[in-house]
This record gives sequence, C-alpha cells and structure tokens, in this order.
Amino acid sequence: MRGVRARQYAPPVTDSDAGSDEGRAANENADTDAEVIGADGHFGELVAAKYDDDCSEMFTPAAIEPAADFLAELAGGGRALELAIGTGRIALPLARRGVEVHGIDMSRAMVARLRAKKGGDAIGVTIGDFATTRAATTDGDFSVAYLVYNTIKNLTSQEAQVACFRNVAAHLAPGGTFVIEVTVPRLRSLPPGQNVVPFHTSPTRWAFDVYDTATQATSSNYVEVVDGHGSYRSIPFRYVWPSELDLMAQLAGMRLRERWDGWTRERFTSESTKHVSVWEKPTS
Ligand SMILES: C[S@@+](CC[C@H](N)C(=O)[O-])C[C@H]1O[C@@H](n2cnc3c(N)ncnc32)[C@H](O)[C@@H]1O
Repeated sequence: MRGVRARQYAPPVTDSDAGSDEGRAANENADTDAEVIGADGHFGELVAAKYDDDCSEMFTPAAIEPAADFLAELAGGGRALELAIGTGRIALPLARRGVEVHGIDMSRAMVARLRAKKGGDAIGVTIGDFATTRAATTDGDFSVAYLVYNTIKNLTSQEAQVACFRNVAAHLAPGGTFVIEVTVPRLRSLPPGQNVVPFHTSPTRWAFDVYDTATQATSSNYVEVVDGHGSYRSIPFRYVWPSELDLMAQLAGMRLRERWDGWTRERFTSESTKHVSVWEKPTS
C-alpha cells in the first residue's frame, strides 16, 4: 500500500489573506516576501488558523498512523525531537504512543494551535529556527529526531540544510536516528528548456512550481482571481536530492541506515516520488 503523497505545504492566498495587510503586502510584491513576513515566517496567524483544514488529507489516519508507528519504533522507549512541530500533527499521536516528544518551531501561531489540542500542554516546544536552535530541555539526549512533510525544503540554502543536520547530530544520543520525509525533486516533469511545472489550472486559479536548476531554488506560486481581482503569492523552497542529504548527514557525522518510499517501508526505487530516510549517529 502506498501512503499519502502530499506536496510541501505552501499556504495559498485566500479571500481573507488577500484582504488582510499581511496578505496584501505579500501579494503585491512576492519578491519582498521575506521583508513582509513576521517572526512566524510563512506560518503566521492567518495560515495557522486554517492549517489543519487546508491540509486535511495529511490529517487522515492513513497519513498519520504509519508515520507515528515508524517513529515510535525508532524512539524505542527514548525521547523524540520534532523539528518544525507545527500544530502537532505527528507529535500528538506519537506522544499518545507513550513517547516523550519535544518540538522546535519558529511559528508561535502554529504552536498555539498545538497547545490548544488535547495533550498539547504536555509537549515541550522551543521557539526558533530548527536549523540552529537547541531544544530548551535538560532531560538528556534524544533517541530520534524527525522532520516530516517536506519541511527540510523550507530551509532555502544548502548551508542552512547542512546546519540542520549538524544541529540534529548535537541533539542525538549515540546510536540515535534522524528521519526525514521529503519529495524527490520533480525535475523529470520539466519539459526540455522550461523551468515551470504547473500543478493546478482552472479558470480562476493557477498554481505552479518554478525551478532554478543552477541554485536548486524553487518556489510554489499561486495566482488566484476572486471577484475579478487577481492575487499572487510565492513561497520559496530549496529542493534537495537524496544523495545530497546523505552527504549532509556525513558532514554531521551520521550515516544512512534506511531509505524507503514511504512510512510502511515500501522499496525506494528510481520511480519513487518521495522518500523516508533514516540516518544514524554512530555509537562511538
Ligand atoms: C508544513 S508545516 C509542518 C508542520 C508539522 N511538522 C506537520 O507535519 O504538520 C511547516 C512548519 O515548519 C515551520 N518552519 C518552517 N521553517 C522553519 C524554520 N526555519 N525554523 C523553524 N520552524 C520552521 C513552520 O512554522 C511550520 O510550523
């Protein structure tokens, strides 16, 4: 059985976004997104309020249970660290399996949604950039750290992605593991000579990814027409190859242990569109 295969979450412009100061500013000049987004990054209040509904496919048991089982097994009675914990989509089911979970996220708005959920209070969260922030906990090293739903791509430079691996290695106990769930870059979908892959087209909405194969910068772009008025939003990412992630792990003193096509350990092949990879910190 194949699991749920979602694109990275790129918050779309909505009626209320487009009408807000935040949405309007972001839409008017997407190149200056970085200047108009606040401390919560791209996951501010407007996005956080609708995140679970917008990502409903990722909140189904089919999407969550295999991931939580996989991670609980790796935790093996130890502690788990979720980078980019968000609203607790995976952290809460993992905690319900008896695993002590701590999270890092830069968005207070997302973490407030986690806190409001049953069991959310019991999960420690450190606010900050998961590439560099140390978890504010003195309870010892983690058995497993994980970064799911393509969020490694939210770090938009190779340097930041490498820093993330180093940060994880510093949190892990010897023998501990780091798990990433991320798509395989879709460059095979690019027509020769072109750099755009559309993924939604309708009379009122166009959505497309733009790739810069020189820098591995990519963006998801949304153009929407509501009541005759157009809006545009662009969210930046950096695509990253499985082999490149292995090298980042090596730089951080870890090595690849497993790579699967999904959480239920389907074989990873040249046709796989995503992977779940596990790197291990050596015991000595
Ligand atoms: C697509 S959501 C994923 C949330 C959760 N892991 C899930 O699977 O539903 C991405 C999350 O990453 C967080 N995020 C993105 N870049 C970050 C960074 N550099 N440092 C900390 N958090 C970041 C956002 O605030 C958001 O909560």
